[in-house]
Amino acid sequence: MLIVANWKAYVETLEKAKRLYAAGKRIAAAGHHDIVLAPPAPYLGLLASANRSNVEFASQDVSETLGGAATGEMTAAAVASVKAAYAIIGHSERRALGESDAEILEKVRHALAHGLTPILCIGERERDPEASYLAFLRKQIQSVYEPLSPKERAAIVLAYEPIWAIGKSAADAITPTDLNEMVLYLRKVLGEYLKSPGKARILYGGSVEPGNARALAAGSGIEGFLVGRASTDTQAFGALAKALN
Ligand code: PGA
Repeated sequence: MLIVANWKAYVETLEKAKRLYAAGKRIAAAGHHDIVLAPPAPYLGLLASANRSNVEFASQDVSETLGGAATGEMTAAAVASVKAAYAIIGHSERRALGESDAEILEKVRHALAHGLTPILCIGERERDPEASYLAFLRKQIQSVYEPLSPKERAAIVLAYEPIWAIGKSAADAITPTDLNEMVLYLRKVLGEYLKSPGKARILYGGSVEPGNARALAAGSGIEGFLVGRASTDTQAFGALAKALN
């Protein structure tokens, strides 16, 4: 499994960042899973550039600008220069701040141009009885995949994160049956843009915890998880990875 630890802004001391990094290294060393840590930018620079373990790093975002006079922006080039391998793009918490599909496409392009693997987040705010959220998800995928080349499309890791399930508890996460259905649907949509949609890497995110990870992984067709809160507690993160062994 590919387990991406999205620390969000939960981690606010270097000591805690180092403890979580040590925990990530222990889990990665066990060899069962690929571990990717996505720390806040200051820790990303420190940890990723000095990393000699088989843990990999992701930025939590990249800028749609290409550098120059853009105070506060974090370009894909800068992220790649500290040896991060992935970039989370289009997280719902960024989209909520006004990020558009067009900006997300630019970010994906910049990430790819600098050798970063984009982890593209999509997800519906809520589910309506008419299932119009399916068309919404299709549009989120289309707006990024359609303009890209086949090679670029194939490089993307897609993270399905229903907003209604993010930051809650395991009881509010998606059910394994619904997740299975969604993965089938997403692969069908991806089939319009990829030659081998069966090979696309799809992650699930939204209240993944040690208690529900195994059931969500079993038979749902996902390649891994994007984990928020539970990834910022060394014990919970260890237990989550163990549950997936
Ligand atoms: P959560 O966050 O695990 O805290 O629900 C997941 C995410 O937003 O990536």
